[in-house]
Parts: sequence; structure tokens; C-alpha cells
Amino acid sequence: MKAAVFYGPHQPLAVKTVPDPEIGPDEVLVKVAACGLCHTDLHYIDHDVPTAKKPPLILGHEVSGTIQEMGEAVRGFSLGEHVLVPAVFSCGRCRYCRQGRENICENMTMPGNHVDGGYAELMAAPAKDVLSLPDTLPLVDSCIIADALSTPYNAVKNRGKVRPGDRVAVFGCGGVGLNVVQIAAAAGAFVIAVDIAPDKLEAAEKLGASASVLGREGKETAREIRRLTGGGVDIAFEAIGNPPTIEQAFDSLAKGGRLVVVGYCRHPASINVSKLMFYEMEIVGSLGCHPLDYIPLIDMVARGTLQLSPLISHRVSLDQINEGLDYLRHGQGLRNIVVMD
Ligand code: APR
Repeated sequence: MKAAVFYGPHQPLAVKTVPDPEIGPDEVLVKVAACGLCHTDLHYIDHDVPTAKKPPLILGHEVSGTIQEMGEAVRGFSLGEHVLVPAVFSCGRCRYCRQGRENICENMTMPGNHVDGGYAELMAAPAKDVLSLPDTLPLVDSCIIADALSTPYNAVKNRGKVRPGDRVAVFGCGGVGLNVVQIAAAAGAFVIAVDIAPDKLEAAEKLGASASVLGREGKETAREIRRLTGGGVDIAFEAIGNPPTIEQAFDSLAKGGRLVVVGYCRHPASINVSKLMFYEMEIVGSLGCHPLDYIPLIDMVARGTLQLSPLISHRVSLDQINEGLDYLRHGQGLRNIVVMD
């Protein structure tokens, strides 16, 4: 099969012919229709974040496709069926999986990190993790459900606990933040989008934001949000991964408010802990999603409550994958995907 192989940081992915993956008795072989390009890949390629499996490795963890082959123990799928491969496979047995927190599974396996992923014509996946997709959904565009939609879904529903009428601010309207906007708006919240890029704010308004604020350095952004809402928002999401915007997001909260950190950041942020204590504030992290989140999420997309196609800005072939990664590097577009021939 053809695949884009990662041989190590600071070099382009090598598009070449490699052996087809072999599947175990409990696995399926998925013929990849599309795979989303994600910042996580750039962490490995540009920023020396090590992959769990040493290269050579096929990256890519946002896959939709069809079932091409099934292991002998697999039941419940049929050949040619449309499927979504989740961004993380959980063990189902550890303490966290047993608590229903599979997204922090002690033995999690991520395609494109621990095992070969989806920048390839074929990929192997455990049948227990793979989800059926309704035929009514566009198969190619559905790949972004696996991460770009599922991560915000967990952030909004489980960690942010957004309810109708809540006032919400979303800091950062990139691939992740825009979906926080559309899912929070679909949940009935009044959503304020914050970004430094006017085109991102425009996209956020199209996806349901009721107001937008152009992000600035210092205290003015939070002040404007407090002014707009007469005291601050109930829930603020930080979907950038930047200490100053984590601090701004906390400062934009009303009493009793909740900060949800979705952006990845390895540096410390400074939080006013006296406000945290006196006003009973909360700060929570949010990572990926749970297996049980996928079915309602897929249903929301199938009903048209959530949109896919406005989020996809560039479609590249596997041969053009390094160009697609360049779009991502330079912040061009919203979500870029690799479409197999
Ligand atoms: N204030 C407001 N918006 C900002 C600022 C700022 N100071 N700095 C950057 N932004 C905006 C960018 O303009 C962009 O629209 O944040 C957005 C970030 O979006 P992307 O680069 O597309 O990143 P995304 O894929 O959405 O990921 C965001 O979530 O899962 C994590 O690792 C991921 O940390 C990353 C974060």
C-alpha cells in the first residue's frame, strides 16, 4: 500500500510503498477514505515531541473509511461498511477505564503515535473501538469527527457541563475552538468567540457565536467580555494552549465560573487563587473524549445540528501531504484533510 512515513523530526514525511498491515483476530482492516491533519503531528515533526513507537511510523489519527477485512473473531461489522476510527484506543480494563474515563486510560494506544495510523491506504484497528457511520453522512468529511469534533464535544458536555442559557467564552477559534463554539451554541449557550484573527471570528459567528471579541494582550480582552456580559461568563474554554490566554480566560469568568483548559501547553500559568477560593471557581482540564460520546456526536452530525463541511478548508492527496502540513504550520485554513485516491 501507499503511505506517508515519518522517519524522524525535521524532515518531510516520505510517501512510499510499504507492506499492507496485518490484522489480528479482534481487528479490522480499514480502507482509509480520509485522515485529518492535526497539530499533534506537527509536535512530532517540528517540535521534537517523541512518538511512543520509534520511527519509522505512519502518523495520522483522524480516520474515516470502509471495512476491507475482518479478523476471525470480529462480529457485527460487514465488508464495505462506513466506519470512523477513534483517535485513541483504550484498554477497557484499567482503573480509569472502569470509572468511565477511558480518555485517561493507563494503557491507551493512539494510532499515529503508538501504532501505525491513517496517512495510508489501509490501517488496522481494534474492532471494539471502531464506530459505524450512517451512509447518509459524507464519508470523507466525517473523518474530522474522530478528533476535531470529539475533543470539543467532551470539553463542552462533560468538562464544561454547558447548559442552555449559559454564557460561554471560547478563547481561540482554530480547528478545536470553532467546534467548541458550534457545540456550545447547539447546547443553547450564549457564546462569545475570542481570536486574534478576524476571519476566525467570522467563521465562529457562522457556526453559532452570538458575539466576538478581537483578542489583545493584557487585561482588556477579559474586561470587554465582563462588560459584554455584565459581570463575566459562566464557562470559559481555552483552546490555544498559551499561559497569557489561560489567564485571560480565567479573568473573563463570573463568580462561580468554570475554566476548561483544552489547549495543550507545557508552561505554567498564573491564576488568582484568592478569586478561585472566594468565588468558588473551578479549573478543569479536558482531553479527547470517551467511547460513549461518539454515538450522540455522530447523531448530532447526522441530524445537521453540527456541521462538517464549513470546517474543512483544504483537501490534499496523500502525495501532497507535506503541502497540507505546511498549510497547518502557517495557520492557513481551519481543518485540512488528506483524501485518499
Ligand atoms: N488570543 C486569541 N486567539 C489566539 C491567540 C491569542 N493570543 N493566539 C492564537 N490565537 C488563535 C489563533 O488565531 C487560532 O485561530 O488560536 C487559534 C488556535 O487554533 P489552531 O492553531 O488551529 O489550533 P487547534 O488545532 O485549534 O488547537 C488548539 O488545542 O488540542 C489542542 O494541541 C492543541 O494546543 C492546541 C489547541
